[in-house]
Amino acid sequence: MDAYLGIDAGTTAVKVLVVDTRGQVIGEGDSPMPISVPQPGWSEQNPADWWIGVVAAVRQAINGTASVVNIRAIGLSGQMHSLVALDKRDDVIRPAILWNDTRTADQCREIERRLGKDGLRNLVGNPALEGFTAPKLLWLRDHEPENYNRIATVLLPKEYIRLKLTGVKAMDPSDAAGTLMFDIAKTRWSSEALAKMEIPEEWMPEIVRSHEVSGTLSIGAAHELGLPPGIPIAGGAADNAAAAIGSAVTIPGTAMVSIGTGGTVVAPIPNAAVDPGLRLHTFNHAEPDSWYLMGVVLAAGSALAWWRDQAGNGRSFDALITEAAETQPGADGLTFLPYLTGNRTPHADANARGAFIGLHAGHSRAHMTRAVVEGVTFSLYDSYKLILEQTQAPTELIGTSGGMRSAFWQQMVADVFGVPLTPVESSGSPYGAAILAACAFGQFNRPSETAAQWVKRTKTLEPNSTDTASYRDAHGRFGDLYQGLRDHFSL
Ligand code: XUL
Repeated sequence: MDAYLGIDAGTTAVKVLVVDTRGQVIGEGDSPMPISVPQPGWSEQNPADWWIGVVAAVRQAINGTASVVNIRAIGLSGQMHSLVALDKRDDVIRPAILWNDTRTADQCREIERRLGKDGLRNLVGNPALEGFTAPKLLWLRDHEPENYNRIATVLLPKEYIRLKLTGVKAMDPSDAAGTLMFDIAKTRWSSEALAKMEIPEEWMPEIVRSHEVSGTLSIGAAHELGLPPGIPIAGGAADNAAAAIGSAVTIPGTAMVSIGTGGTVVAPIPNAAVDPGLRLHTFNHAEPDSWYLMGVVLAAGSALAWWRDQAGNGRSFDALITEAAETQPGADGLTFLPYLTGNRTPHADANARGAFIGLHAGHSRAHMTRAVVEGVTFSLYDSYKLILEQTQAPTELIGTSGGMRSAFWQQMVADVFGVPLTPVESSGSPYGAAILAACAFGQFNRPSETAAQWVKRTKTLEPNSTDTASYRDAHGRFGDLYQGLRDHFSL
């Protein structure tokens, strides 16, 4: 049977889907990825582990299919921003510094000085944030000059996987957009921004469009994966762009809410419009010649995972959520600030921290679990409100990934946002990667065409107006907390 492979190099796992030519998922593979935290606020992974994970997950996915599959093409997606630095022999110089690493505050201030707010808006279309790639390069220059001086190529996670698959060094626009070195409007590296940061442009790989062929499977990689050589590899996309494609969020008027380790609200826009306040990100979409606005919650699913690990006493997510569902919206006055690893949107403050505020003796673990889920959802709603300042209100939201598989959380998003929410069946990013593979093979012309035919929506959840009103009160309390606690965070 003919099929496509979608490979997602995520933060906590490599995920692989085998998808047939009608869009049915016929095989799945999953390989967990450890994160190392050498110092507080640091977050690193070894690219070699990603490759081991890809080999294991691809073999698992292929072996799990009921019939023998002929893989027509492979699509890639991956965590954004995370820096992979290679030397001139293409060897990895040091562990990758990940998107959720916050060591680069000084380098962000330097980039703001070198580019100015206007330069950030006009050259790269985005704020200088700790998670992005350019500040990580400057951190290496300042703290590990011996490593910085060896750099010959800068890649991102899925680009490293591509190199292992094909021997080709290339990057697609949706991932290049998150480096702070890319001109999102002209869809090419920004020579001017690179010059201002004194980062050599020759370190940057060639740009290949997401739905086009970037290379073919080499004999060596084919042997490791148990596949025939020569399979085309699509340009692929950043995980958020791939998740949007995999959820059929491809055109203005739609928006996606995704809850994985981090959480995002993504709204496609027709041009490279930049938030004048630089609170949102504008990135190139994997649909050609389109862009999206995005707000990011750094600790979303990971905030609930933290809470389960600390207070769950061995209980599963489902058990904790069942308990929380017995309590009322607003958690009886308890508010949780989910900034466990800092805040990206709207405060752009790596020093922000989490908090439970308003505890009283009548609160139980159930209220606290509800407050954690509400706090993450309120934080996503903060991003949504900024998006509404920039573009048309979507008529519905599409929910995808981890937390958006929970019926309780789905209804909460519909109620908090006050907008109908339709979850999709497939798991966003690797499914989007498979869609890009189908385009690269030539079965479809554009990702939006594939998504319209393949993506399966489930039942639409309408917001409950009484609960929306309660959540608006609770969100008011939530909104005031950051300013009130801000001085405390920097102590
Ligand atoms: C987006 C971001 C995260 C990562 C997660 O800007 O930092 O959503 O892409 O992998």
